Amino acid sequence: MSSTLFRTKKVEQSILDTEEPEHALRKSLSALDLTVFGVGVIIGTGIFVYTGSVAKTTAGPAISLSFVAAGVVCVLAALCYAEFASTVPVAGSAYTFSYASIGELPAWIIGWDLVLEFALGTAVVAVGWSGYFRSFLDNNIGWQIPEVLGGRDGASGFGFDLFAALLVLALTAVLVVGMKLSARLTQVVVAVKVTVVLVVIIAGAFIVNTANYDPYIPPSEPVPAGSSLKTPLIQLMFGWAPSDFGVMGIFTGASIVFFAFIGFDVVATAAEETRNPQRDMPRGIIGSLFICTLLYVAVSIVVTGMQKYEDLSVEAPLAEAFKDTGHPWFAGAISFGATVGLITVCMILLLGQTRVFFAMSRDGLLPRFFSLTHPRFKTPYRPTILLGVVIAIVAGFTSLQTLGELVNIGTLFAFIVVAISVIILRRTRPDLHRAFRTPWVPVIPVLSVCASLWLMINLPAETWVRFGIWMAAGFLLYFLYGRTHSRLARGEETRPEQTL
Ligand code: ALA
Repeated sequence: MSSTLFRTKKVEQSILDTEEPEHALRKSLSALDLTVFGVGVIIGTGIFVYTGSVAKTTAGPAISLSFVAAGVVCVLAALCYAEFASTVPVAGSAYTFSYASIGELPAWIIGWDLVLEFALGTAVVAVGWSGYFRSFLDNNIGWQIPEVLGGRDGASGFGFDLFAALLVLALTAVLVVGMKLSARLTQVVVAVKVTVVLVVIIAGAFIVNTANYDPYIPPSEPVPAGSSLKTPLIQLMFGWAPSDFGVMGIFTGASIVFFAFIGFDVVATAAEETRNPQRDMPRGIIGSLFICTLLYVAVSIVVTGMQKYEDLSVEAPLAEAFKDTGHPWFAGAISFGATVGLITVCMILLLGQTRVFFAMSRDGLLPRFFSLTHPRFKTPYRPTILLGVVIAIVAGFTSLQTLGELVNIGTLFAFIVVAISVIILRRTRPDLHRAFRTPWVPVIPVLSVCASLWLMINLPAETWVRFGIWMAAGFLLYFLYGRTHSRLARGEETRPEQTL
């Protein structure tokens, strides 16, 4: 039994599968497209929304150190992701990598976990976008949507986030029509978003009052007694009194603002659609991550210098900081940029989601019905439509904070699997060509595992419980369906003469 659970799919087979005509994706993306995709998905709700709430309640001005800590975790993971993405250039990201290295059950676990990351991530960003969009409509044309259609947060009784759901459905249609269209759309939107972030940094720097940096690391404060499940796991593990701020607040903050970095791993899910994945994947992943880390640290330093951290807005902190310091014009422009910018984040997370689902279905772990591509558009339209509808419903009924934490724990878990897989694949398949090699193996992968685990234990205990339930459901599905339907189990392989 254990040998079937750990059966691996040969790397050559993974690549061959992508060449079956009716299951093939179009190869059209360049390194620049990938970097734009990366920046397009990375800069989003994390920096536009969480910066305010984390500085205000958890870390104070030291939130810039939270961004540094989360950035370090991501750089370590990116070094591992880049090796895999350049060795196994096939749709499906960490799922595909682990299928080729550790085995089928771990691959299933990671695929299931990525579905959580991308689906809930899409929902979270759609809800964040909807908030900015509503405030944009309110401020500019004075129109307010009825409260019952304004989302779960703040709704008494029934609440449905109409705009969030509509956004997901519209993006689903764009993705069904094809990559090329969405890549072009992404480029324009990314330009707007990066301009807005640069405006915050440059214009904001002139408004900074250095007195706001004192204290830079606010002293630790005990949190009021409440549900112990809301406490970071590490505090429960060591029996510490639950507290905010202080040095530990920097890490609690890091485990939340980590959401702001999610997305560089999504670049890897588009490997199969990249013209020269061996060369362009590492460039796309590391390039986009590097740019975003610099921007985040700069934005958080500027914003906490413009306003006392206690006064920051938790809904639109970047815009409100300008409004509150007497620059409403900048505030309006920033709200507009955020509204436009969050669209691409949502779209690319949705894209990553459908590609993982597609890869799992192509391997028979989910029904094969989902992996037939559209005859004309060459897109995996079936999972795109199915998941788009499900996510639109989830987004309609979702509240932000809890789901953000769940997305983070799922992503960090995926990082751990990828880092371990790098070490394993080096041992089991030293012969494979690696266009990008992670430096200092096994030191970097081991550090990556430790760093990801560290952020995970800084997340609330209840997030661990929810994650455990999701994974248990995944195990059940695998043993009831995937294990027997897997193409590998049935001995089905693509023969070279079947390919184009
Ligand atoms: N990193 C993305 C965001 O901040 C998911 O919204």
